[in-house]
Amino acid sequence: MLKVDKLNKTFKTDGGDVHAVRDVTFHAADGEMVAIIGASGSGKSTLLSLLGLLDSPDEGSIEMNGTQLAHLDSSGRTKYRSRQVGFVFQAFNLIPNLSAKENVKLALEFAEWPKEGRDARADEMLTMVGLGPDKAQRRPNKLSGGEQQRVAIARAFAAQPQLILADEPTGSLDKATGQKIVQLLREAANTLKTTVLVVTHDERVAKQADRRLEIDDGVLQEIA
Ligand SMILES: Nc1ncnc2c1ncn2[C@@H]1O[C@H](COP(=O)(O)OP(=O)(O)OP(=O)(O)O)[C@@H](O)[C@H]1O
Ligand SMILES: [Mg+2]
Repeated sequence: MLKVDKLNKTFKTDGGDVHAVRDVTFHAADGEMVAIIGASGSGKSTLLSLLGLLDSPDEGSIEMNGTQLAHLDSSGRTKYRSRQVGFVFQAFNLIPNLSAKENVKLALEFAEWPKEGRDARADEMLTMVGLGPDKAQRRPNKLSGGEQQRVAIARAFAAQPQLILADEPTGSLDKATGQKIVQLLREAANTLKTTVLVVTHDERVAKQADRRLEIDDGVLQEIA
């Protein structure tokens, strides 16, 4: 269970303060896929950065399965980022000179997954996203955009994180491929009991989620 309470983040810029996240409060259950929608600049990516500990809030708390993230020391924060959270981005962000499978294995290495189990785990995750051995040994530039995003999803889920943060995961894909990718995220969320937060501009993508939250100028609201 993810519990976010009165989270705030302000950026100081030359043009003045930008209050990007304002008193954001919500809960998300294990296995639940929650869509976050909102206009450009409304604070969606900033919120994900805070939840992934890529940035720190000014105020408020984030609790993941009973742990207050603010209480983690620097090694705890690193462990959280590599083991408890998986990231999926619009631009896939795969390492170009590694094969699909090596990309997944590298994430397992960062997460200190037992060495002898990494090969089988990478195969298992790539199979889950529909990529067989032929695709698994290819480098990203020999895969389609949709296939690359499948690899990114396999990588994100590989170390059994509690939370997946997906920022516009369908933004670089055509509509049909995007729909499949979101379906895959949702199935993986349900099967693996992982909370998935997916930022999207696409209303059709948002409708595939269990719940929708809308952020407007940093203020988050549940959409009925
Ligand atoms: N590191 C930063 N320094 C200063 N301002 C920032 C920083 N990051 C984000 N902002 C500002 O905070 C606000 C929210 O930005 P954010 O990237 O979260 O929007 P977004 O909803 O993800 O937009 P988009 O849909 O375009 O990706 C914007 O006004 C942005 O300019
Ligand atoms: Mg963004």
